[in-house]
Amino acid sequence: MPRHDTTTALLTGAAHGIGRAIALHLAREGAAVAVLDLDAQGAEATARLIRDAGGTAFPARADITDMAALTAALDACEAALGPLTLLVNNAAFTEAGDLAGIGLETWHKEIDVNLNGTYHCLRAVLPRMQARGGGAVVNISSVNGVRYFGNPAYSAAKAALINLTQSVASEYGRHGIRCNAVLPGSVRTDNITWKIRQEKDPQVFEKLARWYPLGRVAEPEDIAKAVAFLGSAEASYITGVALPVDGGLLAGMNVMIGEFILESQ
Ligand SMILES: NC(=O)c1ccc[n+]([C@@H]2O[C@H](COP(=O)([O-])OP(=O)(O)OC[C@H]3O[C@@H](n4cnc5c(N)ncnc54)[C@H](O)[C@@H]3O)[C@@H](O)[C@H]2O)c1
Repeated sequence: MPRHDTTTALLTGAAHGIGRAIALHLAREGAAVAVLDLDAQGAEATARLIRDAGGTAFPARADITDMAALTAALDACEAALGPLTLLVNNAAFTEAGDLAGIGLETWHKEIDVNLNGTYHCLRAVLPRMQARGGGAVVNISSVNGVRYFGNPAYSAAKAALINLTQSVASEYGRHGIRCNAVLPGSVRTDNITWKIRQEKDPQVFEKLARWYPLGRVAEPEDIAKAVAFLGSAEASYITGVALPVDGGLLAGMNVMIGEFILESQ
């Protein structure tokens, strides 16, 4: 029996990249997937890919910073697919690389999308799950939430998401709701940050590989597999965790170890 054949999932930011990969993966495992994004065309394209492969999907356009629009989109998703059992908070935005260069407006926008937008989704979905006796949430945070790798406003918001994950796990466990966070390291996507870095250096992903004990950056599917597990009944006793899916990046200083320890042995 497919692992997610009783799952109805809402995926934010699923028009592109990791969100699309998670949506396709969950659909392959039997889930009905609501594909929510600011980018309506991209959301439709993801939903079409799912349907063309024989799955069930519903595209919805909403800005997660707009509580009213988000609630209306959620109503439409549930009308089309039925009550949600899984929320994946994946939508995100960042453009500012360093603290010295960040403008006030950009700081506020990055906190607004990455933290407040996620809170809006929780605020909209949790009471519905509670009324129905349970559900699961996976928040896509980042290794940036526990160490500094650039993008300071985004990183501060991703750190807050880890704590917010713990709040939800602690307060809603009694209602049968689990909440976990996934912390990706570098993932090979064409989001705006990686586009800019790749324009500067087409070999950026290959150069980054040496920082990762597993010798490569992640593919979106690596993140999708972890989300599908945490969102499934196989993880029914796991809540409140922040799971790095980072090829070992946070485990140690791979470049230092490689240069000064392993090669000297
Ligand atoms: N790519 C990486 O290397 C990497 C690393 C660590 C964590 N992550 C996290 O993984 C997730 C997906 O990243 P990605 O690389 O696929 O990013 P992406 O930029 O390709 O996708 C993000 C999606 O969110 C949507 N979005 C942005 N603002 C929105 C809003 N206000 N309302 C609704 N939708 C909105 C965008 O339209 C886009 O489709 C994000 O949470 C990101 O922080 C990515």
